[in-house]
Amino acid sequence: MTADQAIAIRCTVNGEEHTLEVGPGETLLQTLRDRLSLTGTKEGCLEGECGACTVLVDDLPVDACILAAAAMDGRRIRTVEGLSTGERLAPLQQAFLDHAAVQCGFCTPGVLMTLTALLEQRPSPSPEEVAAALAGNLCRCTGYRQMIDALLAVAKEARP
Ligand code: FES
Ligand code: FES
Repeated sequence: MTADQAIAIRCTVNGEEHTLEVGPGETLLQTLRDRLSLTGTKEGCLEGECGACTVLVDDLPVDACILAAAAMDGRRIRTVEGLSTGERLAPLQQAFLDHAAVQCGFCTPGVLMTLTALLEQRPSPSPEEVAAALAGNLCRCTGYRQMIDALLAVAKEARP
């Protein structure tokens, strides 16, 4: 294999199986946006700092801009496009609208994925745990309070 040879991977993205030929230097972000047209995942700093590109790989939030696509063989990837069901928003997406947690919206896909993972791991987090989970997601607009309120509302609603 030469250094510029494509690498074949199989992975699932939002429940759909894909067989892809990815470049050796290709990132997961490039694969999602350029090959699969999943442009909901945003391209920000490209240095693993801002969290705009956050997706879930095997249920864990990761920065897709610093992850090699070639390492995704056999992985289960979820992006913001996979949160809603047809026209129906996921409860967290609806709560973001209800709590005015979206302003310019650039950070929103990444934040939603980070908080989706948090809710799956900790169905009743404290406000401090939500804030800590958001430490890797930069938002220049909201001040985070509305996002935390939105998540706590969803957690409360889901409680038996
Ligand atoms: S674009 Fe990936 S962390 Fe900023
Ligand atoms: S809503 Fe604008 S960066 Fe977060």
